[in-house]
Amino acid sequence: MRLVTQQPCWKCYILCFMSAPGSRFVKACKVQPVDRTPVWFMRQAGRYMPEYRAVRKEYSLIEICKRPKVAAEVTITAAEILGVDAAIIFADLLLPLEVMGLPFHFTAGEGPVIQKPVRTKEDVGHLHTDRAADLGYVSEAVGLVCKHFKANLPVIGFCGAPFTLASYMIEGGGSRNYVHTKKMMYSSPTVWDELMRKLVAVTAEYAAHQVTAGADVIQIFDSWVGCLSVEDYRRYVLPRTTELVKALQKTGAPIIYFGTDSATLLPSMQETGAEVIGLDWRIPLDEGWRSLGFKGGVQGNLDPVLLFADWAELKSRASDILQRAARRPGHIFNLGHGILPETPVENVKALAKFVQEF
Ligand code: CP3
Repeated sequence: MRLVTQQPCWKCYILCFMSAPGSRFVKACKVQPVDRTPVWFMRQAGRYMPEYRAVRKEYSLIEICKRPKVAAEVTITAAEILGVDAAIIFADLLLPLEVMGLPFHFTAGEGPVIQKPVRTKEDVGHLHTDRAADLGYVSEAVGLVCKHFKANLPVIGFCGAPFTLASYMIEGGGSRNYVHTKKMMYSSPTVWDELMRKLVAVTAEYAAHQVTAGADVIQIFDSWVGCLSVEDYRRYVLPRTTELVKALQKTGAPIIYFGTDSATLLPSMQETGAEVIGLDWRIPLDEGWRSLGFKGGVQGNLDPVLLFADWAELKSRASDILQRAARRPGHIFNLGHGILPETPVENVKALAKFVQEF
């Protein structure tokens, strides 16, 4: 465990774990004024980048995640090539499934496949909650990245939100209509809630370890939450997700809570207490922020497909987002979802530079 002291820590010993508490990214997450808008990108280390593809020739995705040195190298390389204001640890959302007793693998073209999806009370009963420590390889990678960047660049840890993780566990992979997931929610609400409770237990411990290893901020990915109505979100998801946010805030790290297709859910998502809410591109940034009463911070929200457009269009759309943010404290520039494979790297680099010079 590292002790990094940028500021005297007598007030809050937890601050000592963080690697860059004074950085503009961390300040923006706390909705404090900054000299310029910080920028980073979801999936900034990924297949669009030749350096990542070279590592993938040697290792599978899971092998990279489980080798702290390799995961740290992938994280550091992407952040340095792009010159962004934060590094997100290289890992995958689904890693906690394995320690809960649900093996999975990735198939080319199809994405993740969970061998034996969770469908019944018994299936939920069998899930372990006492093995989050087996994910220690992720914290180890976080520690290596923090050691490399010291106070120069903050490090983002992450975990999946209980709804999005449950959807993978129940559907057995990605899904279009979430039929099995919603069926469990509607017809077996106590089983559903037990699953949510178990997921919160594991992810809270897992993400808190990342903070003790040096992560400055935790992002909770609720990528597929937008398939829910406001009423269902509030009834079946908000209470346990709030528990996760509160548990993680005890570490002292600010929380970014991200979802997509979530325009109608934003005020409810804010009720979790997360410091920053992630916005996708389907809602104009100022409209999304207004729906949150301009309270707290927002992250986003360029359509990742705009990175395939010509520079004039890309620049004008990025500048539109920055103008909508209107220099209010608490805006972190990002895409509305992850960088896609085939994205031209030059555009990603130019976009980061443009935001930083705006
Ligand atoms: O952002 C980063 O740079 C950090 C790395 C990161 C990965 N996965 C690595 C990865 C992060 C933050 C994730 C999160 C993740 N994983 C999410 C939530 C974010 C989102 O995009 O909504 C989800 C839903 C997953 C599950 C998952 N992992 C999917 C659906 C896929 C795509 C499968 C495919 O073949 O396209 C993955 C694979 C994955 N995870 C890749 C990367 C870089 C690409 C595949 C590869 O290298 O083989």
